Amino acid sequence: MAGGFVAPTGAQGQNYKAKMTTFVLITCIVSATGGLIFGYDIGVSGGVTSMDPFLKKFFPKVFRKMKEAHQNQYCKFDSQLLTTFTSSLYIAGLIASFFASAVTRMFGRKPSMLFGGVSFLIGAAINGAAKDVAMLIIGRILLGVGVGFANQAVPLYLSEMAPPRLRGGLNMCFQLMVTIGILAANLINYGTQKIHGGWGWRVSLALAAVPAGIMTVGALGLPDTPNSMIERGHHDKARNMLQKIRGTHEIEAEYNDLVEASEASKAVKHPFRNILQRQYRPHLVMAIAIPFFQQLTGINVIMFYAPVLFKTIGFASNASLLSAVITGLVNVLATLVSIFSVDKVGRKFLFMEGGVQMFISQIIIAIILGKEFGSNGEGSLGKGIAIVVVILICIYVAAFAWSWGPLGWLVPSEIFPLEIRSAGQSINVSVNLLFTFVIAQAFLPMLCHFKFGLFLFFAGWVLVMSAFVHFLLPETKGIPIEEMPLAWKSHWYWGRFIPEDYRPDVELPKATKA
Ligand code: BGC
Repeated sequence: MAGGFVAPTGAQGQNYKAKMTTFVLITCIVSATGGLIFGYDIGVSGGVTSMDPFLKKFFPKVFRKMKEAHQNQYCKFDSQLLTTFTSSLYIAGLIASFFASAVTRMFGRKPSMLFGGVSFLIGAAINGAAKDVAMLIIGRILLGVGVGFANQAVPLYLSEMAPPRLRGGLNMCFQLMVTIGILAANLINYGTQKIHGGWGWRVSLALAAVPAGIMTVGALGLPDTPNSMIERGHHDKARNMLQKIRGTHEIEAEYNDLVEASEASKAVKHPFRNILQRQYRPHLVMAIAIPFFQQLTGINVIMFYAPVLFKTIGFASNASLLSAVITGLVNVLATLVSIFSVDKVGRKFLFMEGGVQMFISQIIIAIILGKEFGSNGEGSLGKGIAIVVVILICIYVAAFAWSWGPLGWLVPSEIFPLEIRSAGQSINVSVNLLFTFVIAQAFLPMLCHFKFGLFLFFAGWVLVMSAFVHFLLPETKGIPIEEMPLAWKSHWYWGRFIPEDYRPDVELPKATKA
């Protein structure tokens, strides 16, 4: 999951005497490498699958098809095996995250991060040394297991270590790290394809080991969070740790709140059964709809396959990889725009603006491709038009990166009350990974069959999700978590699901209040 913070945002805990200690800063940097690795894995596969030596070695059929004259452009990369290389990571991540959540709860955040890091390292090594497709896919599966564990533990770790008032901002920073990871992969692919001898792809795949190594070594040296120590009954240790990370002895208020919060969350016996109750219908719908819609924007078509897509529309290898670097850069910069504006302009404004911008750019891309390639997909784009397409893709990526990208993670983290938070968050993460998998697996055959209509398909979904946000999502800007029920209650549609005398199932401890 990218940036799935479980902690509430807002101004809670502002009375605590917390300093941003160097210690906390370092732990945050180390653990944020989790986001970096996730992004790197998202970005790296598209680049290597567009490199000739890689295709020739592992996917000779695709390579031959690509070189054939009069080949339908839209279908030249269509191969289930090739997509499995990309998508296997996400299905493995999905399955691993079910186990990771239990390990994280029972043994602490640190063992999960360590396990995730080691799995990443082995995966990167197997991928870099791959001799056949089986090794490639086994490597991707191990990376996926790493993603499942790291993405469960790292955001939790970050949100528990950071002073409460910084939690919201850190949520968005995790997404920023993901985009930086994607950009790093694009840049490295651009560099390694120039290596003579055709083994540049090995370097690209093996370099995933660098952030993985930082995370593993870091996790060895990192302490576990006070929250996790309390959860596992080590109260004295937790108190000491809190003093250390907050840089003060005056931690009693926060410590007591943590203990209360831990007891309250233990009192929630059946979070998954809870979330099925009628009063949580709006939350359940959002936990499923938001990640589903985020993936149906089609963003990962660009993130996974940008170089392949650019090659499809007639770019040379070099130009394709360079264009991917450009879209990667736009992705990072636009995420920054979101970080700085989300608390001023609000979530809904960004969702709607992003939606309109994505819709328009997708429609124009479809029209251009339709006109230039026709439906048999023969021919290629002229240079001028190809540049226009790259610009349009950048406009689309920017729109995603300041709307659905970070908000797809931020909004769910703000709307779940404590008694269903863990369940809501795991549904959110699982649905996200599931549809990431589906899109990764379906994109190349979809491109082959829908042709330029693929962009219309995603544009249609963008329309649906924008209408959904407009009519069904309440604005959450500046609303403290425990006042969210009021926002649902006064909503024209969701109001009917919230009982008149709504009381949370458990007494909310101060730590979760704004
Ligand atoms: C999404 C990823 C996507 C990334 C792109 C994230 O929010 O969950 O699927 O690849 O943004 O920056």
